[in-house]
Amino acid sequence: MTKRLTGRLVIATHNRGKLWEMQELLKPHGIDVVAAGELGLAEPEETGATFAANAVLKARAAADAAQLPALADDSGLCVDALGGAPGLHSARWAELAPGGARDFAAGIKKVEAALHEAGAAPPYNAHFISVLALAWPDGTTEIFEGKINGTLVFPPRGTKGFGYDPIFLPNGLSRTFGEMMMEEKQAIPADGSPALSHRARAFQAFARVCL
Ligand code: IMP
Repeated sequence: MTKRLTGRLVIATHNRGKLWEMQELLKPHGIDVVAAGELGLAEPEETGATFAANAVLKARAAADAAQLPALADDSGLCVDALGGAPGLHSARWAELAPGGARDFAAGIKKVEAALHEAGAAPPYNAHFISVLALAWPDGTTEIFEGKINGTLVFPPRGTKGFGYDPIFLPNGLSRTFGEMMMEEKQAIPADGSPALSHRARAFQAFARVCL
């Protein structure tokens, strides 16, 4: 049985960008958001075999430790001609640059090289996926999914956004995610029509049930 969220919610991420995005999305709903890091919670290893398993693992660890509801997300880029890769390993394909930051230019080059190696030809169909897990201290967990289909373009276009945004062209649009302002990519339409990004779509599904 679904419960509505009130009061405090832990955001089970140690990624500052994701935390900021979640805080922005939750702000209008009067939820008191606290980050897992602020509570001194450790970040569990992402050992799950699916996006949902990883999201649940992160949310569950935080809910149990804090005895509060906790929200976590897991996301990635899945390319058809690569059998769904980089998928769960999207962050890992962007090798660590000196200083510990991910090098997404390298990640993008790796996707392009893998497509050539696979003998794939355009259109390179792909999708972004985001799975949100909400874990309650009583042991129950709920899952919400958002997906957006598109094609990959090379060379990359645009300098906005992050990760694989510059190569992802959503179906039916003429600009890549890298050519869009964050507000446009992440907006939640007030009239209830579908949001654009996978993460915003997952959030819409979550908000419909829990807020
Ligand atoms: P996570 O932290 O395990 O969910 O890693 C997700 C990875 O997928 C990110 O590091 C990016 O590589 C990629 N990714 C997920 N969502 C997006 C997006 O909206 N734009 C670009 N890359 C994304």
